[in-house]
Amino acid sequence: MNDDKKIIVRVRSLVKDYTSSAETLHILRGLDFDIEEGSSVSISGSSGSGKSTLLNILGGLDRADAGEVVVDGNRIDRLAEKQLTRYRRESVGFIFQFHYLLNDFTALENVMLPAYIAGLSKKTALEKARALLADVNMEARANHLPQQLSGGERQRVAVARSMVNDPAVILADEPTGNLDMENTALVTRILYEAAEKRGRTLVVVTHDKDVAARASRRYVLVDGVLSELKN
Ligand SMILES: Nc1ncnc2c1ncn2[C@@H]1O[C@H](COP(=O)(O)OP(=O)(O)O)[C@@H](O)[C@H]1O
Ligand SMILES: [Mg+2]
Repeated sequence: MNDDKKIIVRVRSLVKDYTSSAETLHILRGLDFDIEEGSSVSISGSSGSGKSTLLNILGGLDRADAGEVVVDGNRIDRLAEKQLTRYRRESVGFIFQFHYLLNDFTALENVMLPAYIAGLSKKTALEKARALLADVNMEARANHLPQQLSGGERQRVAVARSMVNDPAVILADEPTGNLDMENTALVTRILYEAAEKRGRTLVVVTHDKDVAARASRRYVLVDGVLSELKN
């Protein structure tokens, strides 16, 4: 074991409420946790417990009401909108339950586009995209459009795409929520293996015990508090 692992995500006293005219929902009630670089973390919890809210705060899609969120050295709770957009684009890879691949672009183009937009040459972006598609066993489908792929295949493309900009963290929100058992097992294996192979830090929100069990650390979110599960 290496005791000097870098902390890539550092969260302190994270609070998130949702206030409507009727009531205030206390979704996250002061979370404290660290994530080591290159590790995998799963977050479970019942529907409505705040898993997506937490993931969206880590990914700069939503803002905390209080507390400190540091990702790869960025105090993201203090970033202005413009910097936050850049943070989302360059430091985070997202995978959602329902694929957000661009329908008019092939699998290969979907994977290369974020890198091309980030400023890589077309040639380099394509090379990276091809290597990532190979990692998820989709090189034979590189020129297919999303609608020509199965749900599991689309999620494998989404896994490849999430990694193309070498993000500090990969955030997956119910990545297998729309898949059958067989594809759940396959996409889970591919997601964790691709992250491990490239030394990427992975945070997976899931209600599936088997998907969660594969992570190096498992947490559960109950009543706005995050607890680590041991064995
Ligand atoms: N934009 C919002 N405004 C008001 N309430 C919200 C908003 N987003 C989420 N919530 C509420 O916050 C709670 C947590 O939601 P969410 O993080 O999506 O839970 P989970 O992903 O664990 O199912 C739910 O009760 C949900 O209704
Ligand atoms: Mg959710």
